[in-house]
Amino acid sequence: MRKSRLKSGKYRDRGFPPYQIGASADARRPAVGDPVVSPLILVGTIDEGGTPDVAPKHMAMPLGWQNLFCFVCAPRHATYRNAVAQGAFTVSFPLPEQIVETSLAAGGRLGDSSKPSLAAVPTIPARVVDGVLVEGCYLYLECTLDRVIDDLGENSIVVGRVVAAAADERALRDPERDDADLVHELPLLGYLAPGRFTKIHDSLAFPFPVDFRY
Ligand SMILES: Cc1cc2nc3c(=O)[nH]c(=O)nc-3n(C[C@H](O)[C@H](O)[C@H](O)COP(=O)(O)O)c2cc1C
Repeated sequence: MRKSRLKSGKYRDRGFPPYQIGASADARRPAVGDPVVSPLILVGTIDEGGTPDVAPKHMAMPLGWQNLFCFVCAPRHATYRNAVAQGAFTVSFPLPEQIVETSLAAGGRLGDSSKPSLAAVPTIPARVVDGVLVEGCYLYLECTLDRVIDDLGENSIVVGRVVAAAADERALRDPERDDADLVHELPLLGYLAPGRFTKIHDSLAFPFPVDFRY
C-alpha cells in the first residue's frame, strides 16, 4: 500500500496538481521551495568601496556541526559578489518584530547602485570580520568565506566558517529552563515562501525514538 502511494501519478489521481520545477512565476502555482518553513536571516557584507550591504535570505542553514553556515545566493546579487571579494559575511537573526527592517533590506537599488532603504536598517560593527550586524537581532554569526558552490542553475551556495558568534541572553538555552518557555518568551521568525511569515512561539518536545542516536 505504502509503495504504491509513492509511485508517480498516484498523487495526481488523488487530485494533486503537478508540482512546478523551478522558480514560480505564477504565485498561484507552487514551486520547489514553497511552501516550506524556513528561517529568515539578514546577510551583511561590505562592498569594494567599503559600503555595507544587508540582504534577507530564507534559504539558509547551518551546514553540519562543524561551524559552517550557508545560504543560497546568486552572482547577480551584491551580497554574493561582496562575500566572494571580501572573503567574509555576517548573519543576523531578526526577531518577528523586525519584519519591516528585514523586508527593507531587500529594497531596490538606484542608478548609482545605492540601496536607500538600508537607511531604515540600523547596524552595528561586527567584532571579528570587517562587516556589520543588524541591531536588535537575537543571534549573530561572523563568517569567513569557506567556499562557493556555483552553477546551481542561476543560484550558488555561499558557505562560511563561523569565526565569532554572539546571542541575546534571552535566546540562550539553559538546563534550568524548559526550551518551550524559551521559544514562548522570545518567539522565532519563520518564513513561509513565497510571501508569508510567522511568529513561532509554540513548540513541543520532539518524540525521539528511545534508541535514537545522531
Ligand atoms: C523574504 C525574502 C527572502 C529572500 N531570500 C533569498 C534567498 O534565500 N536567496 C537569495 O538569493 N535571495 C533571496 N532574497 C532576495 C535578495 O536577498 C534580494 O533580492 C536582495 O535585495 C539582494 O540584494 P543585494 O543585491 O544587496 O545582495 C529574498 C528576499 C526576500 C524579500
